[in-house]
Amino acid sequence: MQDHDITRRRLLKASLIGSAALAAAPRGRAGAGTGGVGTPAALGGQPVRTAPFPRWPDFGDADEKAVLPVLRSGVWSRSKVVAEAEKRFAQLMNADHCLATCNGTNAIFTSICALGIGPGDEVITTPYTFVGSVHPILLAGALPVFADVDPDTWQIDPAKIEAKINPNTAAILPVHILGGVCDMDRINAIARKHDLKVIEDACESHGGEWKGTKVGDLGDLGCFSFQTGKSLTCGEGGAILGRDEPLMDRCYSFHNFGRARGSVRPKQGQHYAMVATKCRMAEYQAAILIGQMERFEAQCKRRSENAAYLTEKLAQIPGIVPREDYPDVTRKAFYYYGLRYQQEQFDGLTRGQFVAALGAEGIRASTSLGVLSGTPMNREGCLDDAFQSKAYQMSYPRETLANYQAENACPACDQLIEETVGFHQSMLLGPRQDMDDIAGAVGKIYEHRRKLAAAG
Ligand SMILES: Cc1ncc(COP(=O)(O)O)c(C=O)c1O
Repeated sequence: MQDHDITRRRLLKASLIGSAALAAAPRGRAGAGTGGVGTPAALGGQPVRTAPFPRWPDFGDADEKAVLPVLRSGVWSRSKVVAEAEKRFAQLMNADHCLATCNGTNAIFTSICALGIGPGDEVITTPYTFVGSVHPILLAGALPVFADVDPDTWQIDPAKIEAKINPNTAAILPVHILGGVCDMDRINAIARKHDLKVIEDACESHGGEWKGTKVGDLGDLGCFSFQTGKSLTCGEGGAILGRDEPLMDRCYSFHNFGRARGSVRPKQGQHYAMVATKCRMAEYQAAILIGQMERFEAQCKRRSENAAYLTEKLAQIPGIVPREDYPDVTRKAFYYYGLRYQQEQFDGLTRGQFVAALGAEGIRASTSLGVLSGTPMNREGCLDDAFQSKAYQMSYPRETLANYQAENACPACDQLIEETVGFHQSMLLGPRQDMDDIAGAVGKIYEHRRKLAAAG
């Protein structure tokens, strides 16, 4: 983001510091503690709430009615219900074509392989992501190259991408992390300039929009996950969106043993046109997904409204810096509501103590956001494992592998990982009062930060 924006935001925040604790004054709605309403529950006071947040995944009679006929039909492998789910997901995302897969990791793997990316190729991505973005690059025998993040939006920083491009670069894999949207104008412009493919990892950002276009429809192929925690789920599942029909044929064929599809034609007398895998969605997964899609728009709206309200409240508390979105994000999605926790503003109360104190208040906060291991992806063990293999040692110059860590250092991501705290998207699905509870608990902890830090 622009420097002047950041300065303006910091000044604004500084002017609000004095009113912060008051603005987020806890209401102590429930309470089993004994130390009074204003005392943190971690120090014996009453928790802000004991009521649960909305359950996730959400389901009801309609979902049961949709799944039972599939179960009873005995047709459980990919067939008409999956085709119907693909049609509906494409409609929901305003996309031309959709292919359902067994999960998001294999949606990305299929996309990479269908684009012909393999050994010797480099794919630029972000270190601030789940391993499901990186394994597919490694499984294809390609080299993940990491570009650091924008500290405000937490997305891959386009300014850092171009420096990583060389003649071996085949693709950019931007990850719309936590429900945000990457700066797709700049990423697509870089891709066009250098003739690179763009595979969007939209596994966490269902429904997010850039200038009115939904994520997944902004690059060459867009990949989604429907794993249980995601804002659209069928337990396990995935999808690829695309506009190029022959390329989608290759995706289909790849996900189905290399069998014929549209423009993918095995030679006379042959049946498997390409090296492939099987990662098809099952009928019962699709039946669940169709039911969940019915709820999706209303849930998105509720999450965005609650998140905007929560941001207003949290942004007034010193040391709490909610993740921002680029101005061209026309609709925000949420997998986790993310914020940076700045320990120095909380007089040394550690992030672990902060999260534990929130838990005591009945507010479940996470430092992993469902997917982060605490180690940035550019330093994960799967890279070493791949690089020690014969295949990698034959495909890449010795110095590329030897200098990998130094070349792929991402200090902005390192700091972000240390400061990340988030609330799962399901916590944004309740009434506005739930947001008051979250902000109230954070404000209460801020107010009592020194005592909480001393208590250890
Ligand atoms: C950013 C990101 N990429 C990829 C994946 C992989 O998706 P799945 O778990 O469905 O394989 C996930 C989710 O788990 C994810 O959060």
